[in-house]
Amino acid sequence: MHSSAALSRIAPSGTTAMTDRAIELRESGLDIISLSVGEPDFATPPHVIEAAKAALDDGQTRYTAVGGTSQLKQAAALHFARDLGIEVPASQVTVSAGGKQAIFHAMLATVSEGDEVIVPSPWWVSYPEIVRFAGGKVVPLPTLAKDNFRFTPADLEAQIGPRTLWVLLNSPGNPTGAYYPEDMLRGIGEVLRRHPRVMVLSDDIYAPLNYTLDGTGARPHATLANLCPDLADRILTVSGVSKSHAMTGFRIGVAAGPQWLIKAMEKLQSHSSGNPCSISQAAAVAAFAGPQDFLAEWRERFRTRRDRVVAAINAIPGLSTPTPEGAFYCMIDAAPLMERFGDDVKLTLHLLEQGVALVPASAFGGRDGFRISFAADDARLEEALRRIEKALT
Ligand SMILES: Cc1ncc(COP(=O)(O)O)c(C=O)c1O
Repeated sequence: MHSSAALSRIAPSGTTAMTDRAIELRESGLDIISLSVGEPDFATPPHVIEAAKAALDDGQTRYTAVGGTSQLKQAAALHFARDLGIEVPASQVTVSAGGKQAIFHAMLATVSEGDEVIVPSPWWVSYPEIVRFAGGKVVPLPTLAKDNFRFTPADLEAQIGPRTLWVLLNSPGNPTGAYYPEDMLRGIGEVLRRHPRVMVLSDDIYAPLNYTLDGTGARPHATLANLCPDLADRILTVSGVSKSHAMTGFRIGVAAGPQWLIKAMEKLQSHSSGNPCSISQAAAVAAFAGPQDFLAEWRERFRTRRDRVVAAINAIPGLSTPTPEGAFYCMIDAAPLMERFGDDVKLTLHLLEQGVALVPASAFGGRDGFRISFAADDARLEEALRRIEKALT
């Protein structure tokens, strides 16, 4: 009955109505294809599973250092260097129960009442709630489909004020798949040099799932801490194994940044969850330090699905989407259909009644559209696209 002031500042998930209705429809016997999940449909690589089993057999069942074992910190430092071009000592790396907790702790450890945090929209659902819970003020930075859901350095500078503390940057992004190439990041770096108080949280959790448009395979991932090393003391880069290694259930996320911030996050973690699960940590060492060759195949499969979704959606009257350059999401613009359906929640409920579960754009601070996750079996994805077309034409 008595929720805290902090809790009353945050909203429950905007997708509850949708989830409840999906359960009802499933229980009534309707076949629902879910394109709403935020995790790969691939199995966790076998060498990761083996490492988790070996850790159990080896009795690694006790507390570890709060911010992660030294083996995992070193393996994460290897990942930051190899996959993101960020050279950091293991002492500037910390491990949390998922990327989500790293972001939560970073905000809680730094944001004071009234500090402003710039959050590009459409955004990952937890960003604004975490900022508000920490006492910060969310300053939205809207992006549009016509710009591939990217803001420009000038757009960013226009939002920076005297109370701006953080800018959240997510590339490749959830829910849009937007990817910030090198030149845009250099431009953002220029803006930051003019505003020395502002810090950047670069959420690169989808970095290994970044694919070229022409299908030639992976390209080097562009990230701010690599491109602008002079700003490294105010950049926190968040990554993990959840998306890249299909390990969402293991709950391991990693962050690299300035020593003071890593220490602050670990201080908080020491009183919240304590160390992340010891078995999951052992599995994450195998994920970061073991073979990465499966990733090329995953990227290719996601890229093929992406091409299929983009082509099918752009062929349906009233729907359009830019081509996402990473992750496994497409943000669909359905503005021309709003007169017919009223709003994006009603449109998404209509599609649910036709057997496809999606997430409305408004759940991500966007509007007049919905997100498709193409982390789904190819045949089910095809069937879902057929159902969407049939429901709207
Ligand atoms: C952009 C983004 N950041 C962070 C996370 C958190 O991932 P984890 O499962 O590691 O907490 C997600 C998961 O959905 C995400 O989409």
